[in-house]
Amino acid sequence: MIYLADTANIEELKDLFYYFPIAGVTTNPTIIGAEKKPLSLILPQIIDIVGDKRMLHVQMISNIAEDMVREAKTYKARFGLGDNFFAKIPVSKEGYRAMPMLKDAGINVTATAIFTQQQALLAARAGADWVAPYVNRLDNISSHGIEVVKHIVDNIREFKLHTKVLAASFKTVDQVHRVSMVGSHAATIGHEIIERLSSHPMTDMSLEWFERDGKDLYDIEIND
Ligand code: E4P
Repeated sequence: MIYLADTANIEELKDLFYYFPIAGVTTNPTIIGAEKKPLSLILPQIIDIVGDKRMLHVQMISNIAEDMVREAKTYKARFGLGDNFFAKIPVSKEGYRAMPMLKDAGINVTATAIFTQQQALLAARAGADWVAPYVNRLDNISSHGIEVVKHIVDNIREFKLHTKVLAASFKTVDQVHRVSMVGSHAATIGHEIIERLSSHPMTDMSLEWFERDGKDLYDIEIND
């Protein structure tokens, strides 16, 4: 499983990309809204951090398929985006219609706002490169986010689909742990959860012990 950053906060992104092997960034209108800056200002800053090797998943705001395609084409052209750009398309009826149109136009697709295995399968059949099930939002309505992710992963294997699972919407480290155990290809996670899953108090304590025990004995001069 690879890790993506689910934030549009520039300081958080700089921090995450500096320290961790982050494979890309995902945004949605709520994530952009949290920064209180227009897309035209924030997207170039995100693109600077992501570069052209890592993935950039940007959600479309349009509701009609033709508009979604126009919107995705506009972003691609305006910001000179290449194959690392994915148009995030919600699985509405118009969204399903837009997916093959985007693929025909040579634009990668991430199907988003997925709550069931059937929505994911339909999106995969419509050509989506990634499908994004919302784990925490499922858990919060007394459903089971991990189970839905597992069913989608199983379907992909069973039907030999090229689509991959980009699990999204996390509020706990345990949710991330569990989606990795059921074989999700990727997880997009906020800054706080990435910080938490990367560390452990016993690691900190062990480092203190190493320093206490060895610092006076490491006497070999380190060369440049
Ligand atoms: C991913 O891109 C999703 O839009 C996002 O993870 C949703 O997360 P939330 O449920 O925390 O808003």
